[in-house]
Amino acid sequence: MNLVAEICRDIFVRTVIIPIMPLKSKITGKLISFEGSEGSGKSTQIARLAEHLQQIGREVIATREPGGTEIGEQIRNIIVHNSKGDEMCAETELLLFAAARAQVVREVIAPALTRGAIVLSDRFLDSSTVYQGIARNLAPDPVNQINRFAVGNVMPHLTIVIDVPTEVGLARVRQRASDLPDRMERENIEFYDKVREGYLLLAQQWPERVVVIDGTKTADAIEKKIWTAVSDRLG
Ligand SMILES: Nc1ncnc2c1ncn2[C@@H]1O[C@H](COP(=O)(O)OP(=O)(O)OP(=O)(O)O)[C@@H](O)[C@H]1O
Ligand SMILES: [Mg+2]
Repeated sequence: MNLVAEICRDIFVRTVIIPIMPLKSKITGKLISFEGSEGSGKSTQIARLAEHLQQIGREVIATREPGGTEIGEQIRNIIVHNSKGDEMCAETELLLFAAARAQVVREVIAPALTRGAIVLSDRFLDSSTVYQGIARNLAPDPVNQINRFAVGNVMPHLTIVIDVPTEVGLARVRQRASDLPDRMERENIEFYDKVREGYLLLAQQWPERVVVIDGTKTADAIEKKIWTAVSDRLG
């Protein structure tokens, strides 16, 4: 078993029992998170799925990480601004993402789910597991505990991982002029390979929640696959 697989096994096998702050309201909506490396096609597919769901009369709320609240946007500024400058240590990054997530869960996601809405989250706690935990080698137990503390009992009902080889994601990001110079350019290929492998292992560990979609297909083909997964699992 390689290092990434070992770290993942630690994260998932040694499930830590910690007091999770319960959210008081009863949840009737659905939370669908989208994961995958930069340029994998998350934003493209969230827009398509949102339109499809609205066409069939569902209330849809789309949130992005880190952001979606005023506090979250301020945190996003710290992270984005920093990505063009000094190195932020992995621990700080983990805590900032978790802080933004804690806010959006309580301010936006939980109320929307209580109303029966479908929430589409552009990244959620799996991003922390994979980016900070696996790719940046933070110890799995704290990452797991911080993740759980931040989200309370709000876990995704379905997680769509859009999987593309690192070079494909990187090439797509390069084509978006507005993104240059991008953080991804400064990370090495090995880092994004770890991210990819981390997501695939996550899907193996949580097959009932996590669906992997081949992101190298056309946007139309991916949209169809996602719709099938959403229809199958969410009824
Ligand atoms: N299936 C696809 N085939 C080819 N190109 C695609 C496909 N899906 C999206 N793209 C293009 O690839 C680029 C990245 O897509 P998108 O912005 O949806 O990815 P993302 O996962 O949201 O990226 P980021 O993590 O940087 O936000 C865009 O220019 C988009 O038009
Ligand atoms: Mg995007």
